[in-house]
Amino acid sequence: MVIFSNLSAFNLTKKDLEEICLIDNQNFDFFYRWDKQDFLFYILSKNYIFSVLKYNNSVIGFCLSFISNVESELYKIAISKDYQNLGFGKLLLGLHLTYLTLFEVKQNYLEVNINNHKAINLYKKIGYKEINIRKNYYFNKEDALIMKIQLKK
Ligand SMILES: CC(C)(COP(=O)(O)OP(=O)(O)OC[C@H]1O[C@@H](n2cnc3c(N)ncnc32)[C@H](O)[C@@H]1OP(=O)(O)O)[C@@H](O)C(=O)NCCC(=O)NCCS
Repeated sequence: MVIFSNLSAFNLTKKDLEEICLIDNQNFDFFYRWDKQDFLFYILSKNYIFSVLKYNNSVIGFCLSFISNVESELYKIAISKDYQNLGFGKLLLGLHLTYLTLFEVKQNYLEVNINNHKAINLYKKIGYKEINIRKNYYFNKEDALIMKIQLKK
């Protein structure tokens, strides 16, 4: 099991990128899917921290956060369907947040569909607190929950 953060510092292979896209496609509805160009943008940008979990030399999950001074926002997290419910989401997010603290980041925010109970449970387990609800936030009119975790004082 290996976790890589800030992939531009490592040798991201074409296979890694394809696996990241595949996991994204498996897990998100059409409107929220990203393609290889989108991922390359985030991976290469200095304002994003992109973390990848690899097992047996294959990517099994990824997540990324936007950082702005002491604040950060989790943009996406996904685990390959074959590896869900095994604790890998918790492992990946926990390590990702620890890595963020190396950049003096003090808070991480996120927005999640209020009906995504699995993700909300994961965030609560990690220590995120609910701070707001955005009504009718998504194109299908479902609400978004805004959550925050304090990483450092
Ligand atoms: C959300 C997601 C990242 C969680 O990853 P995972 O590896 O499956 O989660 P874990 O096995 O680490 O479980 C973490 C916690 O989530 C909760 N959880 C797991 N499976 C669940 C389920 N079927 N229903 C409700 N809660 C669940 C549990 O609280 C669990 O903690 P516990 O095992 O200590 O009880 C993953 O399911 C996923 O990729 N989902 C699709 C993409 C997505 O919705 N991303 C979030 C929005 S960007």
